Amino acid sequence: MIPVIAIDGPTASGKGTVAQRVADQLGFHYLDSGALYRIVGLASLERGIPLDFYDELGHLTQGLKIRFAQGHVFLDEKDVSEAIRTEEMGQRASAVGAIPQVRMALVGLQKSFLSAPGLVADGRDMGTVIFPEAVLKVFLTASAQIRAQRRYKQLIAKGISANIDILTNDLLERDQRDTQRSTAPLIQSEDAYLLDTSNLTIDQAVHQIVSWYGTVTQNK
Ligand code: DC
Repeated sequence: MIPVIAIDGPTASGKGTVAQRVADQLGFHYLDSGALYRIVGLASLERGIPLDFYDELGHLTQGLKIRFAQGHVFLDEKDVSEAIRTEEMGQRASAVGAIPQVRMALVGLQKSFLSAPGLVADGRDMGTVIFPEAVLKVFLTASAQIRAQRRYKQLIAKGISANIDILTNDLLERDQRDTQRSTAPLIQSEDAYLLDTSNLTIDQAVHQIVSWYGTVTQNK
C-alpha cells in the first residue's frame, strides 16, 4: 500500500511549510488541500455565486480545472498561487469548506494525489475522512497567540499591513467554524500524534514527524 502521512490542524499552525518539507525529505508527493478550498472561494467570488447557494457551489466545484505544478497552482490554466493566499480567501475557503456539496465534489480530486512513493497530505480532515488509512496521522497545532504572531510576521514580510488583534480574532473565528461544522470538522482523531509547535522551530517539527514516520513504518 502506498503510504500517506496526514497532517491536520488549525489555521496558521505552520502545517503547510512543515508538510511540504516532510514531503521533500521523504521524496513524497504533497497535497495542500486548503488550496482547493481557497480556489473554490476565489472562483465563487469571481463568478458572483453567493455563499448560501450550496448546490451551485457544489456544481462549480465539480467543474473546476485545477492543476498543481512546480509549487504553483492553476485554475483554468491561470496561475492563482498568490491570489488564493489572502486573508479574505482564507475566510471564504473556511465558509465554503462547511458546505457538504463542496466537500463531496473535492473527494475524488484529493484521493487522486495518492501515488508512489507516497503522499504527505495537509488540511483539516486528511486523517479523519480523506485518507483514514494513513500510516501516520499528525495533529499539528500551536497556541492562538503564537499562530497570530506568525501570520502577522508573514504579512509584514510581504509588505502587507496587519493588525495583530484583528488577525487573532479572524483566526479564532476560523477555528470556531472549522471545528464546529457538521461535515468533516477539524478534530484530533484518537490515532493522531499531537504536535504542538508553539515552542518548536520548523526544522524541529519536520524532524519529529520524519522520526515518527520511521517508528510507525518500522513497527509494521
Ligand atoms: O489550510 P488553509 O488555511 O489553506 O485552509 C483554508 C480553509 O479551507 C480552512 O479554514 C478550512 C478549509 N479547509 C477545509 O475545510 N478542509 C481541508 N481539508 C482544508 C481546508
